[in-house]
Amino acid sequence: MQTIRTVAELRQALLQFRKPRAGFVPTMGYLHEGHRALIEASRAQCDVSVVSIFVNPTQFGPNEDLGTYPRDFQRDEKLCQDAGVAILFAPDIKEIYPARFETFVEPGELAKPLCGAFKPGHFRGVATVVCKLFNMVQPDVAFFGQKDFQQCAVVRRMTVDLNLPIEIITLPTVREADGLALSSRNRYLKREERQRALAISHGLIAAAEQFHSGERDVGRLLATAKQHLAAVDQLEYVDLVDYVKLKPAENPLRTTAALCVAAYVGSTRLIDNVILPLPT
Ligand code: PAF
Repeated sequence: MQTIRTVAELRQALLQFRKPRAGFVPTMGYLHEGHRALIEASRAQCDVSVVSIFVNPTQFGPNEDLGTYPRDFQRDEKLCQDAGVAILFAPDIKEIYPARFETFVEPGELAKPLCGAFKPGHFRGVATVVCKLFNMVQPDVAFFGQKDFQQCAVVRRMTVDLNLPIEIITLPTVREADGLALSSRNRYLKREERQRALAISHGLIAAAEQFHSGERDVGRLLATAKQHLAAVDQLEYVDLVDYVKLKPAENPLRTTAALCVAAYVGSTRLIDNVILPLPT
């Protein structure tokens, strides 16, 4: 036992018993400035920052890009080192899904609309791997990017529903100077496709500007986004949903909504969104 008489000494002595606050940034690698922003937030708010790199097969559909998903481990390792990451967790597939693995986390209603309607099983794979990674890393806080708006909602719900003692922090989407949302999949885009991919962010930004000028009509906001989206090769969805429940937004808008897009440019599937904030 120690007997202490000053506050400074007391604080110093207590430090040895304090558990470091651990921040966690789960990724599939091929890191970009969006990931770096998540790492920086973790470094600013936590004592130790952990990044995982694992291309999770269970969140890819049979015809998706699991085999070709961009990978550059050395570059990622250097980015993490330079960004001050304490631990880079890059498990082998068997570490995450050992033989006879058969237990999944099944998300509910939040996983059904938007991407969930087009990618059956995707959020089951995401929720399962994120839950497993949370159990492995045991962070206090986990950081996600708003570009994956629905993923954030599903993960947030899962942590509450499964009583995981982890704070989920969502950070704004990081964009290129011309508006394109950063994504590891942007590297698939040919020069001409990258130009046309701007239709997505431009459509969202135009609708957001209209919203900020006072427009609350769902149809008119969607029409503005759609005008720009004519340039994509295949529009999977453009939906205006309630920010919390992800159900179709009430018309006219009265509560915060998210305008979400998924579209193919060439063979690359891109997603993006903007939040249209209203007092709740
Ligand atoms: O957003 C991602 O990169 C992935 O979906 C995640 C959260 C790392 C799970 O594999």
